[in-house]
Amino acid sequence: MAGPGAGIWRGALKPHPAGAAGSHRAAAQDATALQVRVFSAADRIALDSSTKAVVIADLGCAQGMATALLIRSSVESIRTRSPHIPIHVVHNDVLQNDWAGLYEALRREESYLRVREGPITPMTAACSFYQLVMPPGVLNLGLSFAALQWLERPGPASAGTALFFDQLAGAEALEMAEQAHQDWSRFLALRAIELAPGGCLVLVMMGRHPNGSATGHTLWAAIRAIAEELVLEGRI
Ligand SMILES: C[S@@+](CC[C@H](N)C(=O)[O-])C[C@H]1O[C@@H](n2cnc3c(N)ncnc32)[C@H](O)[C@@H]1O
Repeated sequence: MAGPGAGIWRGALKPHPAGAAGSHRAAAQDATALQVRVFSAADRIALDSSTKAVVIADLGCAQGMATALLIRSSVESIRTRSPHIPIHVVHNDVLQNDWAGLYEALRREESYLRVREGPITPMTAACSFYQLVMPPGVLNLGLSFAALQWLERPGPASAGTALFFDQLAGAEALEMAEQAHQDWSRFLALRAIELAPGGCLVLVMMGRHPNGSATGHTLWAAIRAIAEELVLEGRI
């Protein structure tokens, strides 16, 4: 599992002219620690005679920008080992997500849907990842990028203008930490039900290093200051 802020990576990989295997090898050479985790998780998916299909999920996908090329590389990795095994890619986000934006991205040249050979089925699971997203025991590789900081409920109503967990103190900070702990435990318990034997999760989330400040501390402080200024000016 990648640690907090392990690198929100966008689009560093390009399809390789040598095709799927070349692309995977080239990507692996240039890979960041995060990419290496995803590639090695994809490489470890068991593809023996009992494997009927491979399921990859992107939990909290939005329009799939952060994961597009990671998923493509994972699909290419699977295809080099098994040209015809059906691959299902489950895009999960809440019902009100911009699903049209996701489908538009899937039509692009660099989409995993352009990988040749066997069937690749994109699927959407329009529901919260705080419930079961897919049937038990089917998930081979679960990815989630910058989504797990969204808890199931908004933070404490008494939090004033705080926008981010590290802007809380005292009782509010404790309440939020307890909620985060419960949500995180529930997320893991649900994924444990969904994972196939040998399945793997690669998760990147905001958090607080035990010896340092939270991911995005400075940015969120600036956003809060601007929002407070806009309130003072009566603009929001
Ligand atoms: C900051 S965006 C990150 C999107 C994408 N993974 C990326 O890195 O570009 C967080 C996404 O998580 C989704 N999200 C928040 N809570 C969720 C939940 N309970 N279940 C599923 N998706 C959720 C949001 O709708 C949003 O699209």
